[in-house]
Amino acid sequence: MSTPDASTKVGESEHAFPEGRAVAVIGAGTMGHGIAQVFAAVGTSVRLYDVDLARAEKGRDQVKSGLARVVQKGKLSAADAERIVAAITPVATIAAATSGVSLVVEAAPEDMSLKVKIFQDVLASAPADAILGSNTSSLSITELGARIGAADRTVGLHFFNPPPVMELLEIVRGVGTSEPTVARARAIATKIGKTSILVNDAPGFATSRLGVVIGAEAMRMLESGVASVGDIDRAMELGYRHPMGPLKLTDLVGLDVRLAILDHLHKELGEQFRAPAILRKLVRAGHLGKKTGRGFYVWTAEGPREA
Ligand code: 3HC
Repeated sequence: MSTPDASTKVGESEHAFPEGRAVAVIGAGTMGHGIAQVFAAVGTSVRLYDVDLARAEKGRDQVKSGLARVVQKGKLSAADAERIVAAITPVATIAAATSGVSLVVEAAPEDMSLKVKIFQDVLASAPADAILGSNTSSLSITELGARIGAADRTVGLHFFNPPPVMELLEIVRGVGTSEPTVARARAIATKIGKTSILVNDAPGFATSRLGVVIGAEAMRMLESGVASVGDIDRAMELGYRHPMGPLKLTDLVGLDVRLAILDHLHKELGEQFRAPAILRKLVRAGHLGKKTGRGFYVWTAEGPREA
């Protein structure tokens, strides 16, 4: 396998979404609804699936409320916001989500068995040429492709939170991912206005492997009383110009998501990725960050404040 190129934007976007074919997004949570918005914003019909219709509808409603704030700021017309929301159809079955689509993007929790089950269901109804994209943050695309028996069209399409705002799409090439699939993934990135990087499958890819190191170290510093939550975050915000400190970012991403990544990387890569005790404790308490209203910060309508 050759070494991936540096960050590039590649053309050929005409191959991304064959005329009239929708995209399926499986999972309407924090990432799934944002990913649905990204595709809807470029005029693609999106079918948004979750385990029950209410959750899929909630995902679409979150797109609507997020866009309402952008309209309020005068950065999007109300008509465009309406058009984007209207392009997203919540659905209650994987068959309804995937029939006739050119692309499936799975954004389910970080559990390999769950993802395998989802893609087995997807394979029963999606067209034989549909790209099978997983938004996994760290799990092996090689294993996923092999276990579902469709390695050639399985590829990592790793988005970043919040998906409509973040510029990167990390494309992950498994051992069995075909070059035409990689080319289509590149074209998809271009079509949705993202810059892609290509990474050969490895635990945590490029982004999660690097990102969790800073987050976990910040938690260990908090545990050993080096500084407060706010001061650790300000260290990186003001001293390194990170848009958001590592603890606030963990709240944004979800403490459960970060814990799952760390546990996986610990198993695959060793001791340096052992999850800090404070992270496991907060997850056990149900303090998962912004989405539950509490993590390292308490989240209010005005934003995060130190707990
Ligand atoms: N839809 C479309 N646009 C939106 C939007 C939405 N729902 N919400 C906000 N925007 C736009 C705003 O209009 C604004 O546009 P502008 O730059 O033209 O003014 C822009 O996005 C920024 O929004 P805000 O002004 O409201 O917010 P901030 O400037 O405070 O930025 C932030 C918020 C983008 C979250 C910034 O703090 C940031 O970049 N934080 C770091 C995020 C990060 O690192 N994410 C990666 C996490 S790791 C991950 O996701 C991987 C996963 O696998 C775990």
